[in-house]
Amino acid sequence: MGKSIESHLHEDRVFQPPKEFSRKARISSMAQYRRMYKESIAKPASFWGREAKELAWQKPWKKVLDWSAPYAKWFVGGKLNVTESCLDQHLDGPRRNKAAIIWEGEPGETRVLTYQQLHREVCRFANVLEANEVKSRDRVLIYMPMIPEAAIAMLACARIGAVHSVVFGGFSAESIVDRLEDSGATTVLTADGGYRRGKVVPLKANVDAALKSHKGVKRVVVYQRTGAKVTMKRGRDLWWHEELEKVSASHQARAFDSEHPLFILYTSGSTGKPKGILHSSGGYLLGAYTTCKYIFDMRDEDVYWCTADVGWVTGHTYIVYGPLANGVTQVMYEGAPNFPDFGRFWSIVEKYGVTIFYTAPTAIRAFIKAGDKFPASHDLSSLRLLGTVGEPINPEAWMWYHEKIGGGRCPIVDTWWQTETGAIMISPLPGCTPTKPGTATLPFFGVDAAILDENGKECKADEGGKLVIRKPWPSMLRTIYGDARRYKKVYWSDYVGRYTAGDGARRDRDGNFWIVGRLDDVLNVSGHRLGTAEVESALVAHKAVAEAAVVGRPHEIKGQGVVAFVTLREGVKTSGRIEEELRNHVGKVIGAIAKPDEIHLTPALPKTRSGKIMRRLLKELVATGKITGNITTLEDFGVITKLQKEMKK
Ligand code: WT7
Repeated sequence: MGKSIESHLHEDRVFQPPKEFSRKARISSMAQYRRMYKESIAKPASFWGREAKELAWQKPWKKVLDWSAPYAKWFVGGKLNVTESCLDQHLDGPRRNKAAIIWEGEPGETRVLTYQQLHREVCRFANVLEANEVKSRDRVLIYMPMIPEAAIAMLACARIGAVHSVVFGGFSAESIVDRLEDSGATTVLTADGGYRRGKVVPLKANVDAALKSHKGVKRVVVYQRTGAKVTMKRGRDLWWHEELEKVSASHQARAFDSEHPLFILYTSGSTGKPKGILHSSGGYLLGAYTTCKYIFDMRDEDVYWCTADVGWVTGHTYIVYGPLANGVTQVMYEGAPNFPDFGRFWSIVEKYGVTIFYTAPTAIRAFIKAGDKFPASHDLSSLRLLGTVGEPINPEAWMWYHEKIGGGRCPIVDTWWQTETGAIMISPLPGCTPTKPGTATLPFFGVDAAILDENGKECKADEGGKLVIRKPWPSMLRTIYGDARRYKKVYWSDYVGRYTAGDGARRDRDGNFWIVGRLDDVLNVSGHRLGTAEVESALVAHKAVAEAAVVGRPHEIKGQGVVAFVTLREGVKTSGRIEEELRNHVGKVIGAIAKPDEIHLTPALPKTRSGKIMRRLLKELVATGKITGNITTLEDFGVITKLQKEMKK
């Protein structure tokens, strides 16, 4: 890759885990981490074999790993029903009557489902699916609001061996069609609607619109959440509650092969067509289970809350499979973080005594922008551990999270992983790893992560390159559904036998991994490679800036120029010189090379509904002055018009 990605940000602040936390943590010293890590790499079969015994198996495996690159089989010969680890196994002891899910709807109502009740609901709905002729390996599309029934639907599919494919409730009818076509699902599970920012999201109407152009669906089961009027098509659409009345509450869990497919989750790649990432059962569950156990250090007395939506992999692994396999109590919230105002999350933390809180940097930045008065007016003293995921966290946001939310006492686990990896891959262990704002630190057990240059040679300290994983891991994707060629090409063709993550990264002298960002978001300015995330981080570190996105634009002399889109904090007066001030600020933090050639002030950035900035659109905008590309995943369409106007100035 020519010159390696150079890293210009320096972060010297180091935070040791609080003694009190370490004392109780499962992994309480770096020596213990290193010993276990070493074993997990040198003897994966004995390491993972031991961990996997904590899950519920109906038939023991014969061989832990069968690896024929790029195809892995974990726990060969073993049979299990994933839902027995998540539910049935907790029913024999004190967890039976413990809250599994404490749910809060956006309008404010609360429901609590104990493990016993959740088990019962999953069994009932598994019977509904079977009564409607859903069979093992059939694909089922789930398009639901954030209500317990979303998790129940997923688990009911898993229980009967059907393959769920959850489509985020914020996606359009068009996306449903794409996913139906690719997966061949013939059953859809949805709701009459869900609440988001005080409005009802018309889920059923979107399904209806999708099914106008896609004909293969035989059954649509509709949960009544809002009471909104919907049209039910005779012979195709059924009411969830009516179906439940026809079935019993007992359901015998059949055993499936460890490699039985569990779910398909679509994620965008470099081309327009989303990739259907396929995960299987035993290995995936083990990844979900062990990362929750060691990275979130889950305890029976914890109240855990992951703010993701089940429509993303974070919701699959860290709302459904991981927490439930650990028998933890979790909070699930239906709505927006700013409804009725930016105090909502903190009021939930206070109300239920949340102890572990997992969210995204984009949310943290939104909270920073909204002002400190929101967290300050709630009692957040129950929190003991914080986590982030989704993008590199800028040190400014990390420090704010640490101080204003964690009260300076909670370790932060910055967790790097992907839809494809199934579970967290690089992260601090909260009881032992020294953290620095902005780094995901060290690989988790069994993860042989490395940074390679274009010749496949491992990079030196502080030298940037491509992040790869050199050994198979239990929760790895198995293929791209229906497209083995693309699977090989996208992930396994850069270096023989190594998984390429598509991220640029570097390791510092202490071995910490700093994720620079997707490689397609790395610029080349005058022969220097520069991570857009680093320029953004520098911008956001300025007191006037709430959020920033940086893209490259062709530049006659430099090769690529730096273009920044900046949202200022509320209440900041723009003097007309703010742009120049920001350029100089970036020059000061990183170096003159990173000074943006252009700065565009904008009230908002174009984002996907999961909060990722759509740089693709910004790139198009700076290149052509307008946006014509696919914007179906955009959260707020008004942003585009505003940006186009700004560019004409
Ligand atoms: C991409 C994966 C994994 C669940 C949410 C996103 C970026 C994710 C981090 C982190 C820096 C991160 C990477 C990765 N990413 N977590 N802690 N630090 N970057 O899943 O949509 O599959 O996206 O998100 O670029 O490749 P996804």
